[in-house]
Amino acid sequence: MSFSLLRAPLRSAALTSARSVPRAQFRSAFRKYSTTPPPPAQKSSSKTLLLSLGAAAGVGAVAFYYYGDSREAVTALKSGVQAAKAKTNFVPTKEDYQKVYNKIATLLDADDYDDGSYGPVLVRLAWHSSGTYDKDTKTGGSNYATMRFESEASHGANNGLNIARNLLEQVKNEFDWISYGDLWTLAGVTAIQEMAGPKIPWRAGRIDGQAADATPDGRLPDATQGSDHLRKIFGRMGFNDQEIVALSGAHALGRCHPDRSGFTGPWTFSPTTLTNAYYQLLFDETWQWKKWNGPKQLEDKKTKSLMMLPTDYVLVTDKSFKKYAKAYAQDQDLFFKDFSAAVSRLFELGVPTQQFVTPEPWIMKSVDEQEEEKK
Ligand code: HEM
Repeated sequence: MSFSLLRAPLRSAALTSARSVPRAQFRSAFRKYSTTPPPPAQKSSSKTLLLSLGAAAGVGAVAFYYYGDSREAVTALKSGVQAAKAKTNFVPTKEDYQKVYNKIATLLDADDYDDGSYGPVLVRLAWHSSGTYDKDTKTGGSNYATMRFESEASHGANNGLNIARNLLEQVKNEFDWISYGDLWTLAGVTAIQEMAGPKIPWRAGRIDGQAADATPDGRLPDATQGSDHLRKIFGRMGFNDQEIVALSGAHALGRCHPDRSGFTGPWTFSPTTLTNAYYQLLFDETWQWKKWNGPKQLEDKKTKSLMMLPTDYVLVTDKSFKKYAKAYAQDQDLFFKDFSAAVSRLFELGVPTQQFVTPEPWIMKSVDEQEEEKK
């Protein structure tokens, strides 16, 4: 496929995607958004549960518990939140979550940020908050939103995600009843759907955990490595080869930032629109190692403006991965179907089924659909 075809569906801001954003802009981004201070860990040596529902005066306000064991504290917190909700007679419905979706959607476009959208960094936040899951120990995942705590926020892989977390604070302020895990994953769903991606089935029910639930460093993938590493990391979450390849297609969106990961540049010419262009470019372009004073990455020979990480490139060098990557390059509908299923599962990692508010996932409506309905 030619580049001009790939450019076709883009919003104007995306056309400037190949430019590299000046470092000064990154610096100002960092000045503007500092890391959210983590709530203090609440622990006590005595196993007494101190419930101060007085603090739960507002809708869904936080109740404070002092409990020795973090799991028990979470359970206590959950029932406390439910008690607070019962007190205020407020139980959010799908329509309430749709309001949150709509609010997030209003925050996506920003002419002065990257390629004109916060969508990609919100997708990365949702993925990094979920991708810490370990199926053997049943720890990590999106349930407890542990990236709120400095011990996890400071992992190298999470550099720059303070921008996404801070952006969502204004949504949390307006809808204070929503848990951070639900807010971050719903933001990922909103961003994907609003950037022309497929519907991502989503359920509410995550609860805010404690600092003790934060995961150790090293659970997220290292972009400098190869297929064995990808299988190890994604296998730990419970994903197979096909799902690894489908999930990687998220790199049609966004870009690498030297100040965050050390890598630079976008993967596609349409970094604010989800398409299967990532796979097409992997096959159609000639990729060569970039000669620069930075980590090993590939660039397209023709324009030298696109990039691939070593972990992206293994999708065409590993025989098993290649089969799926080729199928997605040839069929965007197939990519969307498999991407939707894998992302929906990714965002639910670590959440006990009984915690979800509904047995069946919801399909949140896009802003366009809601506009259509009003006509
Ligand atoms: C396969 C293993 C993966 C590796 C090694 C990897 C690595 C990276 C790196 C190094 C960046 C650049 C960060 C920056 O400098 O801002 C990045 C960005 C991104 N990643 Fe991944 N990633 C992987 C999988 C995924 C998955 C599974 C998703 C989502 C389903 C995802 C979504 C994104 C998005 C949307 C961005 C762009 C963020 C932005 O523009 O700010 N990645 N990834």
